[in-house]
Amino acid sequence: MKLCVVGSGYVGLVTAVGFAEMGHVVVGVDNDPAKVERLSSGRSPIYEPGLEELLLRNMEGGRLSFTTDLARGVAESLFCFIAVGTPNADDGSADLGTVLSVAREIARTLTGYRVVVVKSTVPVGTSKKVDQVMRETLGIAPGGTQERFDVVSNPEFLKEGSALEDVLRPDRVVVGVDNPRVAELMKELYAPFTRNGHPVYLMDVASAELTKYAANAFLATKISFINKMAELCDTTGADIMNVRMGMGSDRRIGMPFLYAGVGYGGSCFPKDVKALIHTGESLGISMGILREVEAINARQKAIPVSLIDRIYPGKADLRVAIWGGAFKAETDDIREASSLVTIDACLSRGYRVALYDPEAMENLRGRYKDRIVFGKEPYEVLAGADVLCVLTEWRVFRTPDWERVKKSMRRPVVIDGRNQYDPREIASCGIECYGVGRGERSSAT
Ligand SMILES: NC(=O)c1ccc[n+]([C@@H]2O[C@H](COP(=O)([O-])OP(=O)(O)OC[C@H]3O[C@@H](n4cnc5c(N)ncnc54)[C@H](O)[C@@H]3O)[C@@H](O)[C@H]2O)c1
Repeated sequence: MKLCVVGSGYVGLVTAVGFAEMGHVVVGVDNDPAKVERLSSGRSPIYEPGLEELLLRNMEGGRLSFTTDLARGVAESLFCFIAVGTPNADDGSADLGTVLSVAREIARTLTGYRVVVVKSTVPVGTSKKVDQVMRETLGIAPGGTQERFDVVSNPEFLKEGSALEDVLRPDRVVVGVDNPRVAELMKELYAPFTRNGHPVYLMDVASAELTKYAANAFLATKISFINKMAELCDTTGADIMNVRMGMGSDRRIGMPFLYAGVGYGGSCFPKDVKALIHTGESLGISMGILREVEAINARQKAIPVSLIDRIYPGKADLRVAIWGGAFKAETDDIREASSLVTIDACLSRGYRVALYDPEAMENLRGRYKDRIVFGKEPYEVLAGADVLCVLTEWRVFRTPDWERVKKSMRRPVVIDGRNQYDPREIASCGIECYGVGRGERSSAT
Protein backbone atom coordinates (compact mmCIF):
# COMPACT_ATOMS: atom_id res chain seq x y z
CA MET A 1 0.00 0.00 0.00
CA LYS A 2 1.12 3.58 -0.50
CA LEU A 3 1.37 6.21 2.19
CA CYS A 4 2.99 9.47 3.09
CA VAL A 5 4.05 10.48 6.58
CA VAL A 6 4.10 14.24 7.21
CA GLY A 7 6.75 15.09 9.80
CA SER A 8 10.04 13.17 9.86
CA GLY A 9 10.83 13.56 13.55
CA TYR A 10 11.12 10.75 16.10
CA VAL A 11 7.66 9.40 15.37
CA GLY A 12 7.27 10.23 11.69
CA LEU A 13 10.67 8.93 10.65
CA VAL A 14 10.49 5.68 12.59
CA THR A 15 6.90 5.13 11.38
CA ALA A 16 7.95 5.75 7.78
CA VAL A 17 10.89 3.35 8.07
CA GLY A 18 8.70 0.75 9.81
CA PHE A 19 6.01 0.79 7.11
CA ALA A 20 8.64 0.61 4.36
CA GLU A 21 10.34 -2.31 6.11
CA MET A 22 7.01 -4.16 6.00
CA GLY A 23 6.84 -3.69 2.23
CA HIS A 24 4.67 -0.60 1.90
CA VAL A 25 5.78 2.30 -0.28
CA VAL A 26 6.37 5.40 1.82
CA VAL A 27 7.10 9.06 1.17
CA GLY A 28 8.40 10.96 4.21
CA VAL A 29 7.50 14.65 4.08
CA ASP A 30 9.14 17.33 6.20
CA ASN A 31 9.25 21.10 5.84
CA ASP A 32 12.84 21.26 7.10
CA PRO A 33 14.98 21.16 3.91
CA ALA A 34 18.19 20.34 5.84
CA LYS A 35 16.51 17.32 7.44
CA VAL A 36 15.15 16.10 4.11
CA GLU A 37 18.55 16.53 2.49
CA ARG A 38 20.21 14.54 5.25
CA LEU A 39 17.58 11.80 5.06
CA SER A 40 17.77 11.66 1.28
CA SER A 41 21.47 10.87 1.58
CA GLY A 42 20.61 7.95 3.88
CA ARG A 43 21.67 9.60 7.14
CA SER A 44 19.33 9.76 10.11
CA PRO A 45 19.01 13.11 11.90
CA ILE A 46 18.23 11.28 15.17
CA TYR A 47 19.82 8.39 17.00
CA GLU A 48 17.70 5.28 17.45
CA PRO A 49 19.21 1.80 17.60
CA GLY A 50 19.05 0.12 14.17
CA LEU A 51 17.33 3.05 12.48
CA GLU A 52 19.97 4.17 10.02
CA GLU A 53 20.54 0.64 8.72
CA LEU A 54 16.84 0.14 7.94
CA LEU A 55 16.55 3.65 6.55
CA LEU A 56 19.26 2.91 4.00
CA ARG A 57 17.99 -0.58 3.18
CA ASN A 58 14.49 0.64 2.41
CA MET A 59 15.69 3.64 0.43
CA GLU A 60 17.89 1.36 -1.65
CA GLY A 61 14.92 -0.99 -2.05
CA GLY A 62 12.92 1.87 -3.58
CA ARG A 63 10.24 1.75 -0.88
CA LEU A 64 11.22 4.91 0.97
CA SER A 65 11.93 8.46 -0.14
CA PHE A 66 11.85 11.91 1.42
CA THR A 67 10.66 15.27 0.18
CA THR A 68 9.70 18.76 1.31
CA ASP A 69 6.90 18.67 -1.25
CA LEU A 70 3.72 17.71 0.58
CA ALA A 71 1.68 17.73 -2.66
CA ARG A 72 3.96 14.99 -4.03
CA GLY A 73 3.52 12.89 -0.92
CA VAL A 74 -0.25 13.26 -0.99
CA ALA A 75 -0.48 12.61 -4.73
CA GLU A 76 1.39 9.30 -4.41
CA SER A 77 -0.46 7.95 -1.34
CA LEU A 78 -3.76 6.48 -0.22
CA PHE A 79 -2.94 7.16 3.46
CA CYS A 80 -1.63 10.52 4.67
CA PHE A 81 -0.21 10.27 8.19
CA ILE A 82 0.16 13.45 10.23
CA ALA A 83 3.11 13.05 12.64
CA VAL A 84 4.10 16.62 13.42
CA GLY A 85 4.73 18.07 16.88
CA THR A 86 2.02 19.07 19.36
CA PRO A 87 3.90 21.15 21.96
CA ASN A 88 2.17 22.76 24.93
CA ALA A 89 0.69 26.20 24.37
CA ASP A 90 1.19 28.78 27.14
CA ASP A 91 -1.92 27.55 29.01
CA GLY A 92 -0.68 23.93 28.98
CA SER A 93 -3.07 22.77 26.25
CA ALA A 94 -1.74 20.92 23.20
CA ASP A 95 -0.93 23.42 20.45
CA LEU A 96 -2.68 22.04 17.38
CA GLY A 97 -1.48 24.77 15.02
CA THR A 98 0.85 22.55 13.00
CA VAL A 99 -1.51 19.56 12.87
CA LEU A 100 -4.34 21.71 11.56
CA SER A 101 -2.18 23.60 9.08
CA VAL A 102 -0.91 20.28 7.68
CA ALA A 103 -4.54 19.09 7.44
CA ARG A 104 -5.40 22.24 5.46
CA GLU A 105 -2.41 21.70 3.18
CA ILE A 106 -3.40 18.08 2.56
CA ALA A 107 -6.94 19.23 1.68
CA ARG A 108 -5.54 21.82 -0.75
CA THR A 109 -3.56 19.20 -2.61
CA LEU A 110 -6.18 16.39 -2.68
CA THR A 111 -6.50 14.86 -6.11
CA GLY A 112 -8.56 11.80 -5.12
CA TYR A 113 -9.87 9.99 -2.04
CA ARG A 114 -7.45 9.82 0.90
CA VAL A 115 -7.40 8.45 4.46
CA VAL A 116 -5.93 11.10 6.76
CA VAL A 117 -4.42 9.42 9.80
CA VAL A 118 -3.67 11.53 12.88
CA LYS A 119 -0.64 9.95 14.54
CA SER A 120 0.46 12.99 16.54
CA THR A 121 -0.67 12.93 20.16
CA VAL A 122 -3.77 15.12 20.21
CA PRO A 123 -6.59 15.82 22.69
CA VAL A 124 -10.05 14.37 22.34
CA GLY A 125 -11.92 16.15 19.58
CA THR A 126 -8.90 16.92 17.40
CA SER A 127 -9.75 14.44 14.64
CA LYS A 128 -13.12 16.21 14.39
CA LYS A 129 -11.27 19.52 14.04
CA VAL A 130 -9.08 18.01 11.31
CA ASP A 131 -12.25 16.91 9.54
CA GLN A 132 -13.72 20.41 9.91
CA VAL A 133 -10.71 22.34 8.60
CA MET A 134 -10.40 19.96 5.65
CA ARG A 135 -14.08 20.42 4.82
CA GLU A 136 -13.70 24.21 5.10
CA THR A 137 -10.69 24.15 2.80
CA LEU A 138 -12.53 22.01 0.25
CA GLY A 139 -15.78 23.98 0.54
CA ILE A 140 -17.72 20.95 1.84
CA ALA A 141 -20.63 21.61 4.20
CA PRO A 142 -20.07 20.55 7.84
CA GLY A 143 -21.53 17.17 8.87
CA GLY A 144 -23.05 14.71 6.44
CA THR A 145 -21.29 12.26 4.16
CA GLN A 146 -18.61 13.19 1.66
CA GLU A 147 -16.26 10.98 -0.34
CA ARG A 148 -13.09 13.03 -0.58
CA PHE A 149 -11.42 11.84 2.65
CA ASP A 150 -11.82 10.10 5.99
CA VAL A 151 -10.04 11.00 9.21
CA VAL A 152 -8.68 8.29 11.50
CA SER A 153 -7.02 8.52 14.90
CA ASN A 154 -4.03 6.21 15.25
CA PRO A 155 -1.94 7.26 18.28
CA GLU A 156 1.64 6.11 18.55
CA PHE A 157 2.99 4.31 21.63
CA LEU A 158 6.66 3.92 20.68
CA LYS A 159 9.36 4.56 23.27
CA GLU A 160 12.41 6.54 22.29
CA GLY A 161 15.44 4.28 22.62
CA SER A 162 13.54 1.26 21.29
CA ALA A 163 11.35 3.11 18.81
CA LEU A 164 12.05 0.89 15.83
CA GLU A 165 11.43 -2.31 17.75
CA ASP A 166 8.19 -0.83 19.16
CA VAL A 167 6.97 0.16 15.71
CA LEU A 168 7.87 -3.15 14.08
CA ARG A 169 6.46 -5.25 16.93
CA PRO A 170 3.81 -3.12 18.66
CA ASP A 171 2.08 -4.39 21.82
CA ARG A 172 -1.11 -3.17 20.18
CA VAL A 173 -2.31 -0.86 17.45
CA VAL A 174 -5.10 1.53 18.43
CA VAL A 175 -7.30 2.80 15.63
CA GLY A 176 -10.16 5.24 16.19
CA VAL A 177 -12.40 5.12 13.16
CA ASP A 178 -16.09 5.67 12.41
CA ASN A 179 -16.27 4.27 8.87
CA PRO A 180 -16.18 0.41 8.74
CA ARG A 181 -14.69 0.43 5.22
CA VAL A 182 -11.78 2.56 6.46
CA ALA A 183 -11.39 0.26 9.47
CA GLU A 184 -10.74 -2.60 7.03
CA LEU A 185 -8.18 -0.49 5.13
CA MET A 186 -6.36 0.29 8.39
CA LYS A 187 -6.34 -3.40 9.35
CA GLU A 188 -4.87 -4.26 5.96
CA LEU A 189 -2.20 -1.57 6.35
CA TYR A 190 -1.20 -2.92 9.76
CA ALA A 191 -1.55 -6.61 8.89
CA PRO A 192 2.23 -7.18 8.52
CA PHE A 193 2.80 -5.83 12.04
CA THR A 194 0.14 -7.87 13.76
CA ARG A 195 0.72 -11.37 12.32
CA ASN A 196 2.25 -12.54 15.59
CA GLY A 197 -0.95 -11.88 17.49
CA HIS A 198 -0.47 -8.24 18.42
CA PRO A 199 -4.00 -6.88 18.28
CA VAL A 200 -5.46 -3.98 16.36
CA TYR A 201 -8.04 -2.38 18.65
CA LEU A 202 -10.72 -0.68 16.61
CA MET A 203 -12.69 1.87 18.59
CA ASP A 204 -14.44 5.20 18.34
CA VAL A 205 -12.25 8.19 17.60
CA ALA A 206 -12.61 9.93 20.99
CA SER A 207 -11.57 6.76 22.86
CA ALA A 208 -8.49 6.32 20.67
CA GLU A 209 -7.45 9.92 21.26
CA LEU A 210 -7.89 9.61 25.01
CA THR A 211 -6.16 6.19 25.19
CA LYS A 212 -2.81 7.76 24.30
CA TYR A 213 -3.00 10.35 27.09
CA ALA A 214 -4.31 7.80 29.56
CA ALA A 215 -1.34 5.50 28.83
CA ASN A 216 1.30 8.24 29.15
CA ALA A 217 -0.28 9.82 32.22
CA PHE A 218 -0.46 6.42 33.91
CA LEU A 219 3.22 5.69 33.24
CA ALA A 220 4.20 9.14 34.53
CA THR A 221 2.07 8.46 37.61
CA LYS A 222 3.84 5.15 38.17
CA ILE A 223 7.20 6.94 38.09
CA SER A 224 6.07 9.71 40.43
CA PHE A 225 4.50 7.17 42.76
CA ILE A 226 7.75 5.25 43.21
CA ASN A 227 9.57 8.57 43.60
CA LYS A 228 7.22 9.54 46.42
CA MET A 229 7.99 6.17 48.05
CA ALA A 230 11.69 6.97 47.57
CA GLU A 231 11.23 10.20 49.50
CA LEU A 232 9.71 8.17 52.33
CA CYS A 233 12.64 5.75 52.12
CA ASP A 234 15.11 8.60 52.51
CA THR A 235 13.44 9.72 55.72
CA THR A 236 12.74 6.28 57.20
CA GLY A 237 15.92 4.40 56.31
CA ALA A 238 14.15 1.98 53.97
CA ASP A 239 15.77 1.20 50.60
CA ILE A 240 13.62 1.88 47.55
CA MET A 241 15.39 -0.88 45.59
CA ASN A 242 14.06 -3.43 48.08
CA VAL A 243 10.63 -1.85 48.14
CA ARG A 244 10.40 -1.80 44.34
CA MET A 245 11.40 -5.45 44.12
CA GLY A 246 8.89 -6.44 46.75
CA MET A 247 6.02 -4.56 45.21
CA GLY A 248 6.93 -4.79 41.51
CA SER A 249 7.06 -8.58 41.54
CA ASP A 250 3.31 -8.53 42.11
CA ARG A 251 2.03 -9.20 38.60
CA ARG A 252 -0.74 -6.66 39.08
CA ILE A 253 1.92 -3.97 39.55
CA GLY A 254 4.95 -4.99 37.47
CA MET A 255 8.54 -3.73 37.46
CA PRO A 256 8.58 -1.47 34.38
CA PHE A 257 8.45 2.25 35.10
CA LEU A 258 8.94 1.55 38.78
CA TYR A 259 12.39 3.10 39.02
CA ALA A 260 13.04 5.86 41.50
CA GLY A 261 15.36 8.54 40.17
CA VAL A 262 15.76 12.12 39.09
CA GLY A 263 12.42 12.20 37.30
CA TYR A 264 10.93 11.65 33.88
CA GLY A 265 11.64 13.88 30.90
CA GLY A 266 11.46 13.62 27.14
CA SER A 267 9.11 15.11 24.64
CA CYS A 268 6.02 13.18 25.74
CA PHE A 269 5.34 12.61 29.44
CA PRO A 270 5.76 16.22 30.62
CA LYS A 271 3.78 17.64 27.71
CA ASP A 272 1.05 14.99 27.69
CA VAL A 273 0.49 15.18 31.45
CA LYS A 274 0.11 18.96 31.11
CA ALA A 275 -2.25 18.66 28.17
CA LEU A 276 -4.42 16.09 29.97
CA ILE A 277 -4.62 18.33 33.03
CA HIS A 278 -5.76 21.12 30.74
CA THR A 279 -8.35 18.90 29.04
CA GLY A 280 -9.80 17.76 32.37
CA GLU A 281 -9.81 21.14 34.08
CA SER A 282 -11.30 22.91 31.09
CA LEU A 283 -14.18 20.44 31.41
CA GLY A 284 -14.50 21.18 35.12
CA ILE A 285 -12.92 17.87 36.17
CA SER A 286 -10.37 18.05 38.97
CA MET A 287 -7.00 16.67 37.82
CA GLY A 288 -5.27 16.86 41.22
CA ILE A 289 -3.73 13.42 40.78
CA LEU A 290 -1.76 14.61 37.75
CA ARG A 291 -0.88 17.96 39.31
CA GLU A 292 0.78 15.99 42.11
CA VAL A 293 2.57 13.78 39.54
CA GLU A 294 4.04 16.96 38.03
CA ALA A 295 5.01 18.43 41.40
CA ILE A 296 6.79 15.23 42.47
CA ASN A 297 8.64 15.12 39.18
CA ALA A 298 9.84 18.71 39.53
CA ARG A 299 11.17 17.88 43.00
CA GLN A 300 13.00 14.80 41.68
CA LYS A 301 14.72 16.78 38.95
CA ALA A 302 16.04 19.19 41.57
CA ILE A 303 17.55 16.42 43.74
CA PRO A 304 21.13 16.53 42.36
CA VAL A 305 21.54 20.24 42.89
CA SER A 306 19.86 20.13 46.34
CA LEU A 307 22.35 17.43 47.29
CA ILE A 308 25.26 19.46 45.95
CA ASP A 309 24.06 22.46 47.99
CA ARG A 310 23.88 20.24 51.06
CA ILE A 311 27.27 18.61 50.57
CA TYR A 312 29.08 21.85 49.67
CA PRO A 313 27.20 24.66 51.44
CA GLY A 314 28.24 28.08 50.19
CA LYS A 315 31.14 26.77 48.09
CA ALA A 316 31.75 28.85 44.98
CA ASP A 317 34.29 27.18 42.70
CA LEU A 318 32.85 23.70 42.34
CA ARG A 319 33.68 21.40 39.50
CA VAL A 320 30.69 19.25 38.59
CA ALA A 321 31.05 16.18 36.36
CA ILE A 322 27.95 14.76 34.70
CA TRP A 323 27.49 11.34 33.14
CA GLY A 324 24.44 11.35 30.93
CA GLY A 325 22.59 14.25 29.34
CA ALA A 326 19.89 12.40 27.36
CA PHE A 327 16.52 12.15 29.07
CA LYS A 328 16.97 8.39 29.07
CA ALA A 329 19.39 5.80 27.69
CA GLU A 330 19.58 4.81 24.01
CA THR A 331 18.48 8.20 22.72
CA ASP A 332 20.10 11.53 21.87
CA ASP A 333 16.94 13.39 22.90
CA ILE A 334 17.48 16.04 25.60
CA ARG A 335 13.99 17.53 25.62
CA GLU A 336 12.91 18.11 29.26
CA ALA A 337 15.86 16.00 30.41
CA SER A 338 16.73 16.04 34.11
CA SER A 339 20.29 16.93 33.13
CA LEU A 340 19.11 20.36 31.94
CA VAL A 341 17.84 21.25 35.41
CA THR A 342 21.15 20.22 36.99
CA ILE A 343 23.28 21.98 34.35
CA ASP A 344 21.26 25.21 34.50
CA ALA A 345 21.39 25.32 38.31
CA CYS A 346 25.16 24.62 38.35
CA LEU A 347 25.87 27.27 35.73
CA SER A 348 23.76 29.82 37.59
CA ARG A 349 25.87 29.14 40.72
CA GLY A 350 29.04 29.68 38.68
CA TYR A 351 30.19 26.04 38.81
CA ARG A 352 32.26 24.47 36.07
CA VAL A 353 30.31 21.66 34.37
CA ALA A 354 31.97 18.86 32.39
CA LEU A 355 29.72 16.27 30.76
CA TYR A 356 29.90 13.03 28.85
CA ASP A 357 27.01 11.31 27.05
CA PRO A 358 27.36 8.63 24.35
CA GLU A 359 24.79 10.21 21.98
CA ALA A 360 23.37 13.48 23.26
CA MET A 361 26.45 15.75 23.25
CA GLU A 362 25.70 17.29 19.85
CA ASN A 363 22.26 18.39 21.07
CA LEU A 364 23.70 19.65 24.35
CA ARG A 365 26.42 21.56 22.53
CA GLY A 366 23.71 23.22 20.45
CA ARG A 367 22.04 24.39 23.67
CA TYR A 368 25.02 25.28 25.86
CA LYS A 369 27.75 26.07 23.28
CA ASP A 370 31.04 26.45 25.21
CA ARG A 371 29.38 27.12 28.57
CA ILE A 372 30.01 23.50 29.50
CA VAL A 373 32.92 21.21 28.72
CA PHE A 374 32.38 17.95 26.85
CA GLY A 375 34.50 14.84 27.31
CA LYS A 376 35.42 12.28 24.69
CA GLU A 377 34.94 9.47 27.17
CA PRO A 378 33.42 9.17 30.67
CA TYR A 379 36.60 9.43 32.75
CA GLU A 380 37.88 12.56 31.02
CA VAL A 381 35.20 14.71 32.66
CA LEU A 382 36.14 13.53 36.15
CA ALA A 383 39.50 15.30 36.29
CA GLY A 384 39.54 17.46 39.43
CA ALA A 385 35.76 17.14 39.93
CA ASP A 386 34.14 17.68 43.32
CA VAL A 387 31.05 15.66 42.47
CA LEU A 388 29.91 13.24 39.78
CA CYS A 389 26.19 13.24 38.92
CA VAL A 390 24.99 10.17 37.01
CA LEU A 391 21.79 11.32 35.33
CA THR A 392 21.14 8.84 32.51
CA GLU A 393 21.14 5.06 32.82
CA TRP A 394 23.43 4.36 29.85
CA ARG A 395 25.02 0.89 29.98
CA VAL A 396 28.48 2.40 29.67
CA PHE A 397 28.06 3.91 33.18
CA ARG A 398 26.90 0.70 34.87
CA THR A 399 30.18 -0.74 36.11
CA PRO A 400 32.76 2.01 36.40
CA ASP A 401 36.30 1.46 37.54
CA TRP A 402 35.77 2.99 40.99
CA GLU A 403 39.48 3.23 41.76
CA ARG A 404 39.94 5.29 38.62
CA VAL A 405 36.92 7.44 39.49
CA LYS A 406 38.33 8.08 42.95
CA LYS A 407 41.81 8.91 41.71
CA SER A 408 40.50 11.34 39.08
CA MET A 409 38.26 13.40 41.33
CA ARG A 410 39.23 16.15 43.77
CA ARG A 411 36.71 14.77 46.26
CA PRO A 412 35.06 11.47 45.39
CA VAL A 413 31.33 12.17 45.73
CA VAL A 414 28.84 10.41 43.45
CA ILE A 415 25.19 11.37 43.08
CA ASP A 416 23.56 8.32 41.55
CA GLY A 417 20.44 9.82 40.01
CA ARG A 418 19.33 6.52 38.48
CA ASN A 419 20.17 4.11 41.32
CA GLN A 420 22.69 2.30 39.18
CA TYR A 421 25.07 1.40 41.97
CA ASP A 422 25.19 -0.40 45.29
CA PRO A 423 26.08 2.38 47.76
CA ARG A 424 27.78 -0.14 50.09
CA GLU A 425 30.10 -1.33 47.34
CA ILE A 426 31.04 2.23 46.45
CA ALA A 427 31.46 3.22 50.07
CA SER A 428 33.92 0.37 50.48
CA CYS A 429 36.07 2.05 47.79
CA GLY A 430 36.07 5.23 49.86
CA ILE A 431 33.55 7.10 47.72
CA GLU A 432 30.55 8.98 49.11
CA CYS A 433 27.49 7.88 47.19
CA TYR A 434 24.00 9.38 47.28
CA GLY A 435 21.22 7.47 45.55
CA VAL A 436 17.53 8.31 45.34
CA GLY A 437 15.55 6.69 48.13
CA ARG A 438 18.40 4.46 49.29
CA GLY A 439 17.62 5.35 52.91
CA GLU A 440 20.33 5.74 55.49
CA ARG A 441 22.72 3.95 53.18
CA SER A 442 22.44 6.80 50.64
CA SER A 443 25.41 8.58 52.09
CA ALA A 444 27.29 5.62 53.51
CA THR A 445 31.03 6.19 53.72
N1 LIG B 1 8.80 11.30 20.52
C1 LIG B 1 8.09 10.32 21.03
O1 LIG B 1 8.60 9.46 21.75
C2 LIG B 1 6.63 10.21 20.75
C3 LIG B 1 5.96 9.01 21.02
C4 LIG B 1 4.60 8.92 20.74
C5 LIG B 1 3.93 10.01 20.22
N2 LIG B 1 4.59 11.18 20.00
C6 LIG B 1 3.84 12.30 19.41
O2 LIG B 1 4.11 12.36 18.02
C7 LIG B 1 4.12 13.72 17.56
C8 LIG B 1 5.45 14.03 16.91
O3 LIG B 1 6.45 13.93 17.91
P1 LIG B 1 8.01 13.86 17.53
O4 LIG B 1 8.74 13.56 18.78
O5 LIG B 1 8.20 12.98 16.34
O6 LIG B 1 8.25 15.39 17.10
P2 LIG B 1 9.52 15.99 16.36
O7 LIG B 1 9.58 17.41 16.78
O8 LIG B 1 10.71 15.10 16.57
O9 LIG B 1 9.15 15.91 14.81
C9 LIG B 1 8.21 16.72 14.17
C10 LIG B 1 8.68 16.89 12.73
O10 LIG B 1 7.65 17.57 12.00
C11 LIG B 1 8.27 18.47 11.10
N3 LIG B 1 7.28 19.50 10.73
C12 LIG B 1 6.83 20.54 11.48
N4 LIG B 1 5.91 21.24 10.78
C13 LIG B 1 5.77 20.61 9.59
C14 LIG B 1 4.97 20.87 8.44
N5 LIG B 1 4.12 21.89 8.39
N6 LIG B 1 5.10 20.03 7.38
C15 LIG B 1 5.96 18.98 7.43
N7 LIG B 1 6.74 18.71 8.48
C16 LIG B 1 6.63 19.51 9.55
C17 LIG B 1 9.45 19.00 11.86
O11 LIG B 1 10.44 19.54 11.00
C18 LIG B 1 9.94 17.72 12.56
O12 LIG B 1 10.86 17.02 11.76
C19 LIG B 1 3.80 14.56 18.80
O13 LIG B 1 2.42 14.80 18.86
C20 LIG B 1 4.22 13.66 19.94
O14 LIG B 1 3.51 13.93 21.13
C21 LIG B 1 5.93 11.30 20.23
